[in-house]
Amino acid sequence: MSAALPAPALALLQEWLPSNESPARPLMTLSTIGLDGYPDARSVLLSEWDEDGFFLHTDARSRKALQLGAEPRAALTLVWPELKRQLVVQGDAAPASADEETWAYGHRSRYLQLLAWLNDPAFAALPEVERVARWASFDAANPALSAPDTWQGFRVAPVRLTFWEGRDDAASRRREFALVSSTWQESLLPG
Ligand SMILES: Cc1cc2nc3c(=O)[nH]c(=O)nc-3n(C[C@H](O)[C@H](O)[C@H](O)COP(=O)(O)O)c2cc1C
Repeated sequence: MSAALPAPALALLQEWLPSNESPARPLMTLSTIGLDGYPDARSVLLSEWDEDGFFLHTDARSRKALQLGAEPRAALTLVWPELKRQLVVQGDAAPASADEETWAYGHRSRYLQLLAWLNDPAFAALPEVERVARWASFDAANPALSAPDTWQGFRVAPVRLTFWEGRDDAASRRREFALVSSTWQESLLPG
């Protein structure tokens, strides 16, 4: 990111997002540009965030990883319907550092650590009984796991953050921060 996030945007992120240490990771829709030019989207966990960006982790062989490698631009959408909040982040994606990837893997649940090792096309093609048996034997044989080579992190450095807030007694409204010529500009928009 070429300019530090403005203080009001930072304050909103701190208020809306859980701490990076919290085991309850927010779910977000990651939108990417497909190799065929069509938009693509799927749910991923927000692993952590800091002033420089938002981190997600995936399999390096996945469609999204190939898409981000070819066209490193993404959007992240997080929604909290019960709080009448939505956050949309548009930004530039870049590979995470090895240290960050190690940190994020260490903070994944045991199930997700196993998944990172076993979630490949060959495993997906197995009959159900075999999938369960292989999962159990891999789990038992590997009490302490480190990240597989296919574990890949991306940092999405924001160029636009849009905080949507609804309410019952007035119209919803968006507070938007956009990076224009290396300067953050803030605007209020209708919901
Ligand atoms: C609740 C939920 C959380 C998920 N979290 C992740 C995640 O953090 N990373 C990931 O690669 N896939 C995650 N997935 C699976 C993706 O949505 C997707 O199916 C998978 O990564 C393949 O996407 P792709 O073919 O577009 O690369 C999650 C799915 C759900 C429903």
